[in-house]
Amino acid sequence: MTRLWVKEMYREVAKGVYYIGVDDHHTELFENLWKIPFGVSYNSYLIVDEKVALIETVKGPWSEQWQENIREIIDPAKIDYIILNHMEPDHTSSLPDIAKIATNATMIYTNKASDMQKSFYDIPLKEKTVEDLEEISLGTKTLKFIHAPFLHWPETMMTYIIEDEILFSCDAFGAFGALNEKVFDDEIDLRMVESESRRYLSAIITSYFKFVQRGIEKVKDLGIGIKVIAPSHGPIYRKDPMWIVDRYNEWTRPELEKYATIVYGTMYGYNHRLAIKLKKELIDLGVEVKLHNISYTEMSRVLVDAIRAGVLIVGTPTYDAFPFPKIWAFVNEVQGKRFPVKTVALFGTYGWGGGGVKKLQNMFEEMKFEILEPIIRVKARPSDEESEQIRLLAKAIAKRLQ
Ligand SMILES: Cc1cc2nc3c(=O)[nH]c(=O)nc-3n(C[C@H](O)[C@H](O)[C@H](O)COP(=O)(O)O)c2cc1C
Ligand SMILES: [Fe+2]
Ligand SMILES: [Fe+2]
Repeated sequence: MTRLWVKEMYREVAKGVYYIGVDDHHTELFENLWKIPFGVSYNSYLIVDEKVALIETVKGPWSEQWQENIREIIDPAKIDYIILNHMEPDHTSSLPDIAKIATNATMIYTNKASDMQKSFYDIPLKEKTVEDLEEISLGTKTLKFIHAPFLHWPETMMTYIIEDEILFSCDAFGAFGALNEKVFDDEIDLRMVESESRRYLSAIITSYFKFVQRGIEKVKDLGIGIKVIAPSHGPIYRKDPMWIVDRYNEWTRPELEKYATIVYGTMYGYNHRLAIKLKKELIDLGVEVKLHNISYTEMSRVLVDAIRAGVLIVGTPTYDAFPFPKIWAFVNEVQGKRFPVKTVALFGTYGWGGGGVKKLQNMFEEMKFEILEPIIRVKARPSDEESEQIRLLAKAIAKRLQ
């Protein structure tokens, strides 16, 4: 019996290749860190050939809904291969459920993933670890496994269907934003996808930009055709698969941009006033400036503008002898995510003993940043002399961006 609504539960990517992913509209913070106001999708795919292969599972709470999607196509007991490109729980926490049903399935992943699988779940299924570029036949379709280390974990790989030229790229080329049954790039407003994929990349993959570049190079060097890019989050690109590749390529280039980005914290507005003063000076010198109050711009959006800025400018009040806590957290991101930008300018205010800017300075020195002079420390409101220092700092920033 065919029910019309059932057809909407899965979507055909190619003959015998189905999208069976789910939308998450409940999680507020991805990784408990990043706001996802438009939700996120956990993509999973089913390939029905002489053998049946499942690509990825989904996050645990969506397991039942996902299994229903599978059941609309086949009996999940018939699954021969469970291909796990990546072990992060947003793609594997339903593995224990499906393993109880698909008891004859073999898990396919990299050596490193095998290790992780055992430490996360210890699933009692057969496993096959695959070498880079190893192939297996499903009957009429052949799968090729392309190791893609550090995209964005050490065990990650991509899976490619040779005959259909579909690349299942895992987290690479992914985006935040639930799909709401609009699964393909030609069904969605790409302006939204552009903004949510850049935010996703900046939040999740910044530490591994050079691996994105390497991954793109590797796939280009293989000389394989790509008709479809099917990532593990966000839309499937079938109209223009290179659209997302070109963007990821652009956003992860090592060359810095020609703008300066000011990221500042403020409790009562003194640092806000300094930030605006500096911004005005910079604009007068012809510098493009992006400006974020750390308390009101969501961190992933701050990252988008800060990661590859030509000069990063950080401003902080002193807060209990330390930098403003949210600025402190931002500087931790700069360190942890190994930002490509390596030039910083610092300003800040204090009420009595100070210490906020000094601690930022120490941290940036430790990270081997070039710190532009002068470093500005102001007791509440800038004196004429300190205003002159702001002009000097603006000049140094403008010079650095030439
Ligand atoms: C909760 C709190 C803690 C502070 N701790 C310090 C401190 O340890 N040392 C200091 O010199 N000033 C301290 N200050 C004073 C601020 O650094 C100072 O007023 C600053 O100019 C505020 O800038 P803003 O308006 O941009 O937040 C503190 C202020 C607040 C509200
Ligand atoms: Fe991941
Ligand atoms: Fe993921």
